[in-house]
Amino acid sequence: MKIDLNFSKDIIKEEELDSYEGDIFSIHNCLHSKDEYERMPLGWIDLPERYDGKEIENIKKTAYRLRSNSQAFISIGIGGSYLGSRAAVEMMQSDSPEIYFSGNNFSGTYIQQIVNKVKDKDFSICVISKSGTTLETAIAFRVFRDMLEKRYGKAEAKDRIIAITDKNKGALREIANKEGYETFEIPSNIGGRYSVLTPAALLTMAVAGINIEEVMKGARDAYSSYNDPKLQSNNCYRYSVLRNILYKKGKHIETLINYEPSMEYFGKWWQQLFGESEGKEGKGIFPAVLQFSTDLHSMGQYLQEGSKNVFETIIKVKNPPEDMNIPCFDDDIERLNYLKDMTFNDISNIAYKGAMKAHEEGGTPVISLEIPAIEEQCFGHMVYFMEKACAVSGYLLGVNPFDQPGVELYKKNMHKLLDR
Ligand code: PA5
Repeated sequence: MKIDLNFSKDIIKEEELDSYEGDIFSIHNCLHSKDEYERMPLGWIDLPERYDGKEIENIKKTAYRLRSNSQAFISIGIGGSYLGSRAAVEMMQSDSPEIYFSGNNFSGTYIQQIVNKVKDKDFSICVISKSGTTLETAIAFRVFRDMLEKRYGKAEAKDRIIAITDKNKGALREIANKEGYETFEIPSNIGGRYSVLTPAALLTMAVAGINIEEVMKGARDAYSSYNDPKLQSNNCYRYSVLRNILYKKGKHIETLINYEPSMEYFGKWWQQLFGESEGKEGKGIFPAVLQFSTDLHSMGQYLQEGSKNVFETIIKVKNPPEDMNIPCFDDDIERLNYLKDMTFNDISNIAYKGAMKAHEEGGTPVISLEIPAIEEQCFGHMVYFMEKACAVSGYLLGVNPFDQPGVELYKKNMHKLLDR
């Protein structure tokens, strides 16, 4: 597949992009060098071509078992151990079991609501934490582990709990070993927000009936498409450079815009990826997420006439999975029968063109990324595209896109306040 990239030519000239050719060439060589691979958590960069087919088989087998004995499945995790799988499930789940996400906040109401939803159903859980010590995840795990053990007894509960964590370290690994849970590993050289194509997200996807082999196929396709050091022909690198050019022109906010509501969580995953990777040392683009046309009736005002520090990146789906015609009425009081030959998606396309033109005229630059469809291969391809674009953006900005000292500080302060 191919991601088409277009951008506001009145605001950014091709020559500006070309001036980054040398920088991109060096960053490409650095990211793909053995030294950098050993120094940085770059395990995701070649994952699509070296992933373990046997592990994918095991994930599928476990998912099959959980799908057949569970009416509901709870995926417990936060940040990089949550958003990727939720993005995939929201975009592509087609059948049962019901999937719930927990362990991603401290809301007593939210967790009680999930408890209420599963209390009369057969359910199973997976708990995902690379560090194995994240509090939101750990306390939610206690709630559902307790429920399972009381409902099924310890022995059967054990078969309904899957732990996904580091191979050796952390409290979750310790519990899993002690209790004999089935486990999958998050590789130590892949950070949370870069872990979508690992068991961290693949198990939940497979339980939701998503074809994870196709996801990996899409990622593999992206790996070879964006393994090209030439800026001119590499849309992933072009996207990173465009962001950098706009940042230097004072566009410090990037808003990722989706026209498909099912992609809302893809936006949230993207937001974490870029926000946590770039926002450091007093630098970085602030990533925001909008849903059009819904937010055209609210934030559209700001984009058109507000501060000129924002640019848009639109993800446009060429062939959305469904469509519908607009019904005709004889009396036609609202005078809408002229739309009789159009579908919802036709109108969405027109809204897209209209909003893009208006915002560009208002001085808001637009980058548009077009993907062919909402399906597994496209998802895998887009995940890899964004991961690599994010790493390259971080290097262009001069920050380490793989650490998160700010997040660690929040965790440390909270533990101190809780008197741990
Ligand atoms: O990207 C990251 O590293 C973070 O967002 C983590 O994924 C998040 O804090 C959850 O961490 P863990 O998987 O260790 O529970």
